[in-house]
Amino acid sequence: MTAFTIAIDGPAAAGKGTLSKAVAAHFGFAHLDTGLLYRAVGAKTLLGVEPIEAARALTAEDLEVEGLRTPDVAQAASRVAVIADVRSALVDFQRAFAMRAGGAVLDGRDIGTVICPDAKVKLFVTASAEVRAERRYLELSAKGDPSTRAQVLADVQARDARDMGRAEAPLKPAEDAVLIDTSDLSIEAAVAKAIAEINAKAG
Ligand code: CDP
Repeated sequence: MTAFTIAIDGPAAAGKGTLSKAVAAHFGFAHLDTGLLYRAVGAKTLLGVEPIEAARALTAEDLEVEGLRTPDVAQAASRVAVIADVRSALVDFQRAFAMRAGGAVLDGRDIGTVICPDAKVKLFVTASAEVRAERRYLELSAKGDPSTRAQVLADVQARDARDMGRAEAPLKPAEDAVLIDTSDLSIEAAVAKAIAEINAKAG
């Protein structure tokens, strides 16, 4: 089977992770959460490593370390993600993953626009900032994170502004992306919609 790449982009906490995992499981494809790459680099900078050096030296084990899902690491990730040399150090790994035989789902911010402009299917998943912040707040508080609702909303809004406003690979839908607004959709409904779009494009 030739490569079949599904690109899923969207702003912070839009539900890309849940959707991507479900889509990958449905089609038997591999899944890469590209946000983890930036989170791993961001986490290293919090330990004093220089960001470009951290990106160039990144290994698969770095993606497995504890604590990459905290708000502090998310902020650090979005700060390193504006650096062109950090982004370019991570391109080859993502493209190689996208081209694997058997199919791949990549989720992130620039998959449909920069990393995989020829992806077979491009989805842009979004929801209002309030809905996204509430989902992330529930996720974090279930893990014992002490952040308040207001702090989580501020984090989401700060990252959105940085991700959309940067010069390098800014967050935006690819011209040929299908928009899925999950504000009023259950997880099941969002997954069903994504699968229907993919089947329509594949057919
Ligand atoms: O899970 P959440 O949507 O909150 O964030 P994430 O996908 O883990 O991404 C963390 C940060 O990494 C984002 O705010 C972006 O700044 C950056 N990122 C990026 O620039 N490009 C990607 N393809 C993925 C993430």
